[in-house]
Amino acid sequence: MRDTHPPLQDNAAVLEAELAWAASVIDAGIRLYFEQACAVDSVYALTPPPLATAPGSYAETVHAHGLGFAERFVLMLAMLGHLRPQLLDPFLIKNVNTERSFTEFGGVGGAHGVFQPTLETAAFVLAGERLAERLQLARLFEPDHRFSRARLLELEPGSGGLFTSILRVPPARLHALTTGAPYAPVFGAEFPARRLESALSWDDLVTPPSLAEALEEVHAWIEQGATLTEAWGLGKHLRPGLRILFYGPPGTGKTLTACLLGKRSGRAVYRIDLSQVVSKYIGETEKNLGRLFAQAEHEDWILFFDEADALFGKRGATQSANDRYANQEVAYLLQRIEDFPGIAILATNLKSNLDEAFARRFQAAIYFAAPEAEERLRLWRQACGDGSRLGPDVDLVQLADKYEISGGMVGNILRHALQAALRRGDQSLCQADLRLGLERELRKEGRLI
Ligand SMILES: Nc1ncnc2c1ncn2[C@@H]1O[C@H](COP(=O)(O)OP(=O)(O)O)[C@@H](O)[C@H]1O
Ligand SMILES: [Mg+2]
Repeated sequence: MRDTHPPLQDNAAVLEAELAWAASVIDAGIRLYFEQACAVDSVYALTPPPLATAPGSYAETVHAHGLGFAERFVLMLAMLGHLRPQLLDPFLIKNVNTERSFTEFGGVGGAHGVFQPTLETAAFVLAGERLAERLQLARLFEPDHRFSRARLLELEPGSGGLFTSILRVPPARLHALTTGAPYAPVFGAEFPARRLESALSWDDLVTPPSLAEALEEVHAWIEQGATLTEAWGLGKHLRPGLRILFYGPPGTGKTLTACLLGKRSGRAVYRIDLSQVVSKYIGETEKNLGRLFAQAEHEDWILFFDEADALFGKRGATQSANDRYANQEVAYLLQRIEDFPGIAILATNLKSNLDEAFARRFQAAIYFAAPEAEERLRLWRQACGDGSRLGPDVDLVQLADKYEISGGMVGNILRHALQAALRRGDQSLCQADLRLGLERELRKEGRLI
């Protein structure tokens, strides 16, 4: 990776100023405690750098989470070992009376290894011997505080109680805060969701007029949702959050639409595959999903539950212990989705009418129909790009008229056709290649050409 990448440099400049501030706070904290000459009589007199208009993910995170003086300092303290470990050297001073490091400084390591600040270290600098302030600081780490909910900062339990815990910035968060890249946790058992991205844009979405209208409405809700409830004072009366259901046959663009709704409104979309979550992470699911929901709320992510059929299954009758677990997970998930104050989109391939009680849980249930001839032609044309790979006998109008296929199938057919042409040594494909591809796709679906 090149270190000249502008976001990294912009972010580093912001961090540089923040480091200088944190170092001055540490220096003042130590001076005040030991009653040495100090330019200020409280560390809080050292105003942190203004970040309101600063670029980069560090400034954005501070702004988005409304981090105050103490929170910013604790966060920087936790990052010093990564950014500029020598700024932690003041904590290595020995107490001449005990010939040990100062108990007051807290921290782990030191003498030989890298000094790792603990909550005690933060309390020493910010609170000194003022007990109320010390206890106030501990509140930053309560489970409902943004540090924990947004996974900004965690405490790694130490050998003796809360204040001996090491301050730790989770790796994905540290990566974002330092490189300037957007925060993107890595998929895994602890985080069972993947970021959805697409090179396509909103205008590439092929939709019949009725669907286009419904989606415009959803977009408007996403854009104005929070503003509307806040500005009109409706917040108390309306259930917060937006829950939308997409249903219809496979390959009609449900996943793509969820992705593009996010792209259009500048929100990341995280896809949770329910069939995976419910079967694989039994037991741990609730904890991990709980964290995922909390983070999504803080980060303004859209949560997309793909293959949500598991949620529509019959509830009640169970056989094995695994089924019972699955049922429990499903019930938990439904409740969690209903309580989620952010944006949740669920998608299912079920074509049948929805259980009414279930449909009532959503602000909108949007049907993605199989495309008609006109839409199919657009899908064909779009998928063929500039058309430079199409031989002279290719007749997309005829294909669109004749074959009732989904947008998802168009892509697959083109891939088959291109392969067939390449095998022949041709640079462009002909109608017969497309028919071959069509045949294969239709056969896959149990249909005949
Ligand atoms: N309505 C559509 N407009 C544009 N492209 C589409 C549409 N439907 C499907 N596609 C193409 O097919 C691919 C698969 O569609 P997908 O969104 O996964 O369908 P679904 O989630 O309904 O099964 C998309 O990534 C896109 O390339
Ligand atoms: Mg899909």
